[in-house]
Amino acid sequence: MRIGLLTGGGDCPGLNPAIRAVVRKCEVGYGDEVIGFLDGWRGVVEDAVVPLDVERCRGILPRGGTILGTSRTNPYRIENGPARAVETIERHHLDALIAIGGEDTLGVADKLGASGIPVVGIPKTIDNDLSETDFTIGFDTAVQIAVESIDRLHTTAESHHRVLVCEVMGRHAGWIATYAGIAGGATVILVPEEPFAIDSVCEYLRHRHCAGTYASIVVAAEGAKPVEGTLALVAPELDQFGHERLGGISTVVAEEVEHRTGYESRVTILGHVQRGGTPSAFDRVLATRFGTAAVDCVHDGAWRSMVALHGTRVERVPIADAVAKLKTVDPDLFRSVAEVFFG
Ligand code: F6P
Repeated sequence: MRIGLLTGGGDCPGLNPAIRAVVRKCEVGYGDEVIGFLDGWRGVVEDAVVPLDVERCRGILPRGGTILGTSRTNPYRIENGPARAVETIERHHLDALIAIGGEDTLGVADKLGASGIPVVGIPKTIDNDLSETDFTIGFDTAVQIAVESIDRLHTTAESHHRVLVCEVMGRHAGWIATYAGIAGGATVILVPEEPFAIDSVCEYLRHRHCAGTYASIVVAAEGAKPVEGTLALVAPELDQFGHERLGGISTVVAEEVEHRTGYESRVTILGHVQRGGTPSAFDRVLATRFGTAAVDCVHDGAWRSMVALHGTRVERVPIADAVAKLKTVDPDLFRSVAEVFFG
């Protein structure tokens, strides 16, 4: 078979291990040929391709990023985009296209799949907000990076008796904030799913500081929102998929905290540090399992399916179900576990 492969959307650690796994399983397992599209859907629309083989994939297992490049190109927002994508796939006589992406990239894959393109999906996003899979590639590494940073923030917060607000990624889902906050011993965690009352945040901080420990870490997802009408926020820009470009809630929170409590506060926005560098062992294994399973889907003709982690098993789910709605933080995890440690 001839198989096309792309990585789309925001990059994350673990993409290269997934590429390597697809290529290895194709070439060694089935005798397939693989071509890579550059920069996600841009490469499909503009016919930008590179050959991929086991040799090309040597040494990429521990490398962050993606050797194919990525972009947030949406063919459905480009004139004749979908038709040009189909032409490229036909020009290269592809029998299948494997898309490694989050909700946007896989949403496009499923739309093309509905028009007859044989597609299979692999879930990745540091945000872990794709439905129908317990974990996505990149999440574990991002949490690890955030926790290492929070551990460092603790010691400087303690030395200076400060409140340090650490902003992590997560536009609509606070998975990174929740996991990193629990693992990093945050005094309070702010997530998009649970609008926060700044009064309660200050109460938690006062409680901790009155107990004699004048140092706190607040972990805030970039998409964390105050209870409506309580704090003024600046309106963000939108990307090609209509998503808000966020960043800055932590500054608002830190200023309010300092103003209301008198505790000196500082901000650390981790930003793209969370998406860079070497993938964790968990992400390498997950990507390897997903990549090999996706090639099996191709050979079984399981079109429009996405490989997914359910407990310890890799299974197949319809891409349509995975992208139908975002997987937000389990309220039980937040309220029954994370909140127990607030204050
Ligand atoms: O890929 C998801 C994500 O990392 C979000 O958490 C974040 O809001 C966004 O990407 C940032 O996108 P960009 O790198 O395009 O600014």
